[in-house]
Amino acid sequence: MILLSPSILSANFATLGEDIKLIEETGVDMLHIDVMDGCFVPNLTFGAPIISSIKKITNLPLDVHLMISEPSRYIDDYIFAGADILTIHVEADKHVDRTIRYIKSKGIKASLAFNPGTPLTPLKYLASSLDMVLIMTVNPGFGGQSLIDYSHDKIKEARLIAEKENKALLIEVDGGIDETNIISIVQSGANVIVAGSSIFKNRNINGNLNKLKEVLKNEGYNNF
Ligand code: DX5
Ligand code: ZN
Repeated sequence: MILLSPSILSANFATLGEDIKLIEETGVDMLHIDVMDGCFVPNLTFGAPIISSIKKITNLPLDVHLMISEPSRYIDDYIFAGADILTIHVEADKHVDRTIRYIKSKGIKASLAFNPGTPLTPLKYLASSLDMVLIMTVNPGFGGQSLIDYSHDKIKEARLIAEKENKALLIEVDGGIDETNIISIVQSGANVIVAGSSIFKNRNINGNLNKLKEVLKNEGYNNF
């Protein structure tokens, strides 16, 4: 079962509510929300108040990707805003284990993200505490970049760790995923796919989403 988590970073922010409704009607598994602070990554997006508004207009689980420094300062805010899965970056927090335990203690799902150049070593220790690992397949900060080739090796490595430490661990991938590479990504071991520009391109949200689903279905991957 492959889960789809469209990233609203590529949505039209002036009609965000309509874009989200269209995504929900087309049928996806969750909504990926990219929070950037202009410090951990060289870009700035939105924060808890906008997530709070999104929560009111959708039933989709909110997959909140925090690209912010020292995320432990804001965990309560994002949980209060309605996050169902909260992802922090391993590079951004001095006490990752503590923050993950804190997120879990609040009753929501915890996820840990790794930038492309960051080794997965901590995952060996943390996998059993996590619900999901996010393997960045581009350097975070912007939509519309190309997938970095060595990502496949990292996804395979994450899958091996998951098989050993936590078979239920979701493996999410984020960045540069489209209909041309989704199958190889899934074959490497990912089971949660984030896609932004490939879903929102040409404003053909419905058509683009169905295309991705069709590719997965043709390879026997899903029960859409
Ligand atoms: C990048 C973000 C991604 C981004 C992906 O830093 O974390 O979620 O929206 O966009 P695409 O699919 O266009 O690479
Ligand atoms: Zn993201």
